[in-house]
Amino acid sequence: MLASVATFAIEGIESLEVAVEIDMRRGLPVFTVVGLPDAGVREARERVRAALLNSGLEFPLQRLTANLAPASLRKAGPSFDLALAVAVLGGSGQVPREALTNYAVCGELSLSGALRPVHGALAVAFGARRAGYTKLLVPEENAGEAALVEGVEVLGVPSLDRIADLLRGRWQPAPARPRAPAARDSDDELDLADVRGQADAKRALEIAAGGGHSLLMVGPPGVGKTMLARRITSILPPPTFDEALEITHIHGVAGLSDGCLASRRPFRAPHHTISPAGLIGGGASPRPGEITLAHRGVLFMDELAEFSRAALEGLRQPLEDGCIEITRGQRTVSFPAEAMLIAACNSCPCARPRHECLCTEADRARYSRRLSGPLMDRMDLVCPLSTTPPLELAAGPGASSETSATVRARVSAARERQDERLNGCAAVSNATMDGAATRRHVGLGAAARSRLLEGHGRVPLSGRGRDRVLRLARTIADLGGRERVSAEDIDEALSFRLGASERVAA
Ligand SMILES: Nc1ncnc2c1ncn2[C@@H]1O[C@H](COP(=O)(O)OP(=O)(O)OP(=O)(O)O)[C@@H](O)[C@H]1O
Ligand SMILES: [Mg+2]
Repeated sequence: MLASVATFAIEGIESLEVAVEIDMRRGLPVFTVVGLPDAGVREARERVRAALLNSGLEFPLQRLTANLAPASLRKAGPSFDLALAVAVLGGSGQVPREALTNYAVCGELSLSGALRPVHGALAVAFGARRAGYTKLLVPEENAGEAALVEGVEVLGVPSLDRIADLLRGRWQPAPARPRAPAARDSDDELDLADVRGQADAKRALEIAAGGGHSLLMVGPPGVGKTMLARRITSILPPPTFDEALEITHIHGVAGLSDGCLASRRPFRAPHHTISPAGLIGGGASPRPGEITLAHRGVLFMDELAEFSRAALEGLRQPLEDGCIEITRGQRTVSFPAEAMLIAACNSCPCARPRHECLCTEADRARYSRRLSGPLMDRMDLVCPLSTTPPLELAAGPGASSETSATVRARVSAARERQDERLNGCAAVSNATMDGAATRRHVGLGAAARSRLLEGHGRVPLSGRGRDRVLRLARTIADLGGRERVSAEDIDEALSFRLGASERVAA
């Protein structure tokens, strides 16, 4: 007897349809799984057998061959358990075989027959809709996440015996509803007002947030670089619905989703010992790296100069293109990577103020060389920080400092202006405009134009650097509510670029 059930395999962050076919015939009772399964999928045979028997269903004592088609696609993980068990139920006539064609299924089985949640439920639901299925059966814990996709009826099921009842038409669960976003966690308590002084750095942070620009903070230890960077998400506007779906999709595949629609932008802060594959993505079956997990949010690289050269160089292409393609064997997967880069580092290895510095010229040059010219050229803003005066540090809470909510209001208004201007364009913020969009949307008056020409004399600018100054100036004008970019906007943008070119020249 033959039966076939539809399920999905995750490749990169996309789900691809897999047909689980089963053939049953008389012979020695063996259960073989073919179609490029990894060790985890082959183990499913034991779980399926035990789950069926412990659910009061039959495991046929016949020769069973399961094929996972297309056989060219590598299958990994436990999410094929449910499709295999349902195929056995159909093949052995325990449920009507016609009923199987209505559903796509996905889930891991425990030996008792209960269903365990799997990674990537949202990706699976997108795959089911793309493949034309109208009903998707998933473990109950995954139902809220999968139900975020419109156009597919998601049914959350607790156990294998309930699925048998459903396919026999004896039980009809209510379609799952999307789960409400999780309550905001204690991270929310981080507020920009906690940081005393550092007006320049706060301004740089606001501009970076206003247009999605990359920012490097350079300064001695303990001045508040990490503290400032960790507050960036508090001044960013919340993600739109489509952006939240993208974030939940990626985090779901990586096993980081809590099953609800993401309510805030991701903030990823990998340690500097991370491998290039961990940062950019990779592995035998490519997994998303930190830059992809930070998509639509922030990638914070603390102690930038301590990251390996290979990791830093690997970042250059995704930072420019907003996506990364990884090829392994015959297959290429593509990961989105539109993240804001915020970085921090000391000015030299001993990290003391200039007049107390113990480093030799050679030490300093070696330290600077770790941050290659091309990487520094991609930094829109470079902001030097110095120690906050003791009187300012001693000031009480709320003294003179703006709260995150006030800054966020300005950032949100600037982002709305960009959304209107960039409507119909591929860019989502000023920082992601390409060369042509930059020239079209950055309106320069005569004064601003001549100020930029003057600037070329003071700050050595590459073609990319010039475009970056224009985009930065556009964001500064958006934050100030100005339709056209003024000469002062160009001056401020150039002042933040100066740091970048100095470090490139060092
Ligand atoms: N401007 C400031 N206002 C208030 N607190 C500050 C400020 N600067 C530093 N601090 C205090 O010092 C602590 C250390 O700051 P932080 O970790 O941000 O320093 P850093 O510049 O990242 O240092 P390092 O280069 O060693 O990583 C903070 O947690 C905070 O308590
Ligand atoms: Mg730090």
